[in-house]
Amino acid sequence: MQIYNYKEDILHIEEVALTKIALQYGTPVYCYSKKAFKDSYKTIENSLKKHIPEADILIAYAVKASSNIAIIKLLSDMGAGADIVSEGELFRTEKAGIQSKNIVFSGVGKTDIEIKKAIEKEICQINIESKEELANIAKIAQNLGKEAKIALRVNPDIDANTHDKIATGRKGDKFGIDIDEAIAIYKQANSMSGIKIVGVAIHIGSQIAKIEPFRRAFIKIADLVHRLKEEGIKLKNIDIGGGFGITYSSEKAIDFDELAIVIKELIAPLSCKIILEPGRFIAGNSGIVLTKLLYAKHTKHKNFLIIDAAMNDLARPSIYGAYHPILPVKKASDLQLKTYEIVGPVCETGDIFARNEQMPAPKHGDLFAIMVSGAYGASMASNYNSRPFLPEVMVDGKEHFLIRKRQSFFDMLAQEEF
Ligand code: LLP
Repeated sequence: MQIYNYKEDILHIEEVALTKIALQYGTPVYCYSKKAFKDSYKTIENSLKKHIPEADILIAYAVKASSNIAIIKLLSDMGAGADIVSEGELFRTEKAGIQSKNIVFSGVGKTDIEIKKAIEKEICQINIESKEELANIAKIAQNLGKEAKIALRVNPDIDANTHDKIATGRKGDKFGIDIDEAIAIYKQANSMSGIKIVGVAIHIGSQIAKIEPFRRAFIKIADLVHRLKEEGIKLKNIDIGGGFGITYSSEKAIDFDELAIVIKELIAPLSCKIILEPGRFIAGNSGIVLTKLLYAKHTKHKNFLIIDAAMNDLARPSIYGAYHPILPVKKASDLQLKTYEIVGPVCETGDIFARNEQMPAPKHGDLFAIMVSGAYGASMASNYNSRPFLPEVMVDGKEHFLIRKRQSFFDMLAQEEF
């Protein structure tokens, strides 16, 4: 079954018409497909099982991509662990039922409280991003009388050829420890009380469309693991990060069979547990933003479609200039196309979803689906312009249900005082 398809000219998610979703929950609204989440998770799992059946694998879902607890629970029930970057994400993942032993903690700026919790809960590993953080973690662990299980996140100096704002593995990016300094810092860590070295981690960027940058990073990691072994430091886990690209317009999604073959060739022979941190690959194509047209505004210079979703609901186009396909929910019979700039109502010139969309003239109230919005959509939303957070709806076959209510105005003000 296709996840998104037109039936009698109406766009459906699985077996539910988006007109029905709009009627019941209002717009704008995030709408997800349970099947799409399951299928994308299975794509990763099946490729790895097929090519490296003997390997011990942890698929640690990068919770930041789409953080609703129902989504985390769904993936947890399928066997996923979690890659977290804050105490808030730790809270969510635990509430969703993910066991501590399947949680990895990434991020350049973990607070003392976050570190303390991670140590107390004995999570799988804390990915350390600097020697300063290492010293702090050792101190906190000593005070607790415990050992912190750590991995060094190394920066392999690889340009993943992705958007500048989501590349993370180049020299000069704030992430990770320079790979040339890694051995010295591992040796230092090895002699510190309170520290138990368990692994190595990388994450070279997001929305990476080619296998090649991964291959280059894996070669460097494999070399590091061998050299550490010679120094008497044996690792248990290799965390290859996330970043697996998907299709927004013409780019090809990462072929997981191809990636699994590269993992088999370069990482599996190191006989460690292999951890992956996919976010976008699992969530991206699993959700849309359903929005309606407020006004078609015609000026001498341009035609604008002003929709009820805005940059605070889906920030990617305004932050990264990212392209998301926008589909009409009702296929138009009029075949004459006009060119539109599709914009939100927020008071910012940059509140633009698409610049040159060709479509038949829509009418006030017509519905649109902003596609591939399941990752970094709801999780990056804000209340800017005092716009409440949108509801999130999950579709499962013919069923649909709220997994988050629309924020009320009272809730929006709940933490404020005067
Ligand atoms: N692991 C670490 C340490 C990360 O920093 C990230 C994402 C991931 C895993 C998951 O990466 P993914 O598989 O989703 O590519 N807001 C941006 C993306 C930022 C990614 C941040 N880190 C966007 O909307 O494109």
